Amino acid sequence: MTLADQMRACTRCPELAAVRRHVVVGSGPDRARLVVVGEAPGAQEDDTGLPFVGRSGQLLDQLLAEAGLPRSEVAVLNTLKCRPPANRVPTRVETANCRPWTTAQLEVLAPDVVVTLGLSAARWFLGKTTLTAVRSRVHEVEGWRVLPTFHPAAALRGGPQGEPMRVLREDLRTAVELVA
Ligand code: URA
Repeated sequence: MTLADQMRACTRCPELAAVRRHVVVGSGPDRARLVVVGEAPGAQEDDTGLPFVGRSGQLLDQLLAEAGLPRSEVAVLNTLKCRPPANRVPTRVETANCRPWTTAQLEVLAPDVVVTLGLSAARWFLGKTTLTAVRSRVHEVEGWRVLPTFHPAAALRGGPQGEPMRVLREDLRTAVELVA
């Protein structure tokens, strides 16, 4: 069984496995210089089986394209592969259950840089912290180069002139330059 097939068969989180439509494994090439890690699938991602296809995903596509790297060349994952009910924040147990899948994905993808979107994904690598404390800088974590930034949902909430949009745009540019 491939890694993706094993993930699709996962039932480690019974509450999530019971109601999911899809296990959202990830998108993009099998090996990628840049990996983007979000939190967890939302409703549209659960429906389609693809990560970041809703409004946040459209913004991510646009900002990556602006930075000069098409989304098709970027691997996009989430810390959790199944949608939490009502999009609640993943629990500690769910995050721990799903962690080995993401670790295995990162080992296969072997990226030069990992961009984390939002607090959950930043904490996945850096432990309990705040986004303010870690964002917009590269951190070396167990061999990964991790650049935490805002989640596109925060950028959308803050509006086109808001700080999260400016920071997300700039951090994605930095990440693309780092892998160029
Ligand atoms: N938000 C995420 O964190 N991941 C998705 O796949 C979609 C929205």
